[in-house]
This record gives sequence, structure tokens and C-alpha cells, in this order.
Amino acid sequence: MSERKLPATQAAHELDFISHSPAQTERIGQRLGEQFQAGDLILLIGDFGVGKTHLVKGVARGLESQDLVTSPSFVIVNEYRAGRSRRAMPIYHADLYRIAETGEITTIGLDELWDGDGVCLIEWPERAGALLPSEHLAIHMQHLSETKRRLRLAPHGSRYVALVDRFKDMTFG
Ligand SMILES: Nc1ncnc2c1ncn2[C@@H]1O[C@H](COP(=O)(O)OP(=O)(O)OP(=O)(O)O)[C@@H](O)[C@H]1O
Ligand SMILES: [Mg+2]
Repeated sequence: MSERKLPATQAAHELDFISHSPAQTERIGQRLGEQFQAGDLILLIGDFGVGKTHLVKGVARGLESQDLVTSPSFVIVNEYRAGRSRRAMPIYHADLYRIAETGEITTIGLDELWDGDGVCLIEWPERAGALLPSEHLAIHMQHLSETKRRLRLAPHGSRYVALVDRFKDMTFG
């Protein structure tokens, strides 16, 4: 999926950096959330406890949501509402860890979430395999130490290339 070879031009738009704390990961999520719009699909890729849910907390804040972000492990999908300035659009937060086979994805209607009316964030997207749209923002997260995480933003498709470029300018420019 996200590890497949990218066209060189697209790989050049990847962004790689280190978060030094949970709070910093949330702030990164917040910056990204400010940019997200309805129909966006974000895949969060990385091991247990790497900080995927923390990043989603930041995204929800960036979208001015008042809702409490929790791990959707048992219910598969949580739904929050963005703030009024973001037209209260839905934020779908899925965790596919418990999905046993990709057929379940369509059974529970998950594939409708990313065609949608809101922003869709997916933890453990590997479980959805080839069902995932090819256009998305992949966020790869890796443990470096107790409090340090490596983050790699990999845009797939022009919408996400533009988004990562803007994020880069805002954050490091
Ligand atoms: N730089 C960091 N960024 C994010 N989380 C961090 C960082 N440093 C330490 N942590 C800790 O790592 C844990 C991340 O938990 P979180 O639930 O966000 O992980 P997750 O990737 O969603 O795990 P799971 O796959 O089990 O859902 C938290 O306890 C958090 O405090
Ligand atoms: Mg999680």
C-alpha cells in the first residue's frame, strides 16, 4: 500500500521530522487538522503506542471539535463533529486493528466514510488492504525512544502533495 514505489516527484514531497513529546505530536496534528477538508483521507501507520490516537486528538482540535477523542478500538469507528467554522463536518476516526478480513470493511460500511462528507482518519489501515483509495495522506510513525517519535508525511495524489507543501511552509518555512 503506502510502501509501494512512488514516482520520484511525489517522493520529493515527503516530509520527515521528529516529535519530541506527546504535546508536540498533538500540535502537529492540530496544524494538519487546520488544513483538512471534507473528503480527506489520512492513514496512520505505525506500531502500538506510537502515538496515532494522540495525533488524531490534535487533528480534532485543529478542526475546532469540542468532542473527546478516544481510541475506537472496540467500536471500530468514532465520529466527532468539527467546529461551526468548519461547518460541523464529521470527523471519522477508525481503528481497524480488530478487522479480521478485508470483506468486513464493506460489511460495516467503512468504505463509505472516505467518499464522504467529512475527514476520515484510519489507524491500522493495513487491514483494509487494496480497498483503500490510492489518493490519501499516509503518516508513518516510528518509536525512537520513550518520548521521541519519527513522523513521515507521505502524500499520495496532488491534493495531498499541496497539503504537505503548505504544512511544510507553515511549520518550517
Ligand atoms: N512524541 C510522542 N508522540 C506521541 N505519543 C507519545 C510521544 N512520546 C510518548 N508518547 C506516548 O505514547 C503513547 C501513544 O499512545 P496512542 O494511544 O496515541 O498510540 P497509538 O499509536 O494510537 O496506539 P494503538 O495502536 O494501540 O492504538 C501515549 O502514552 C503517549 O503519552
Ligand atoms: Mg490508537
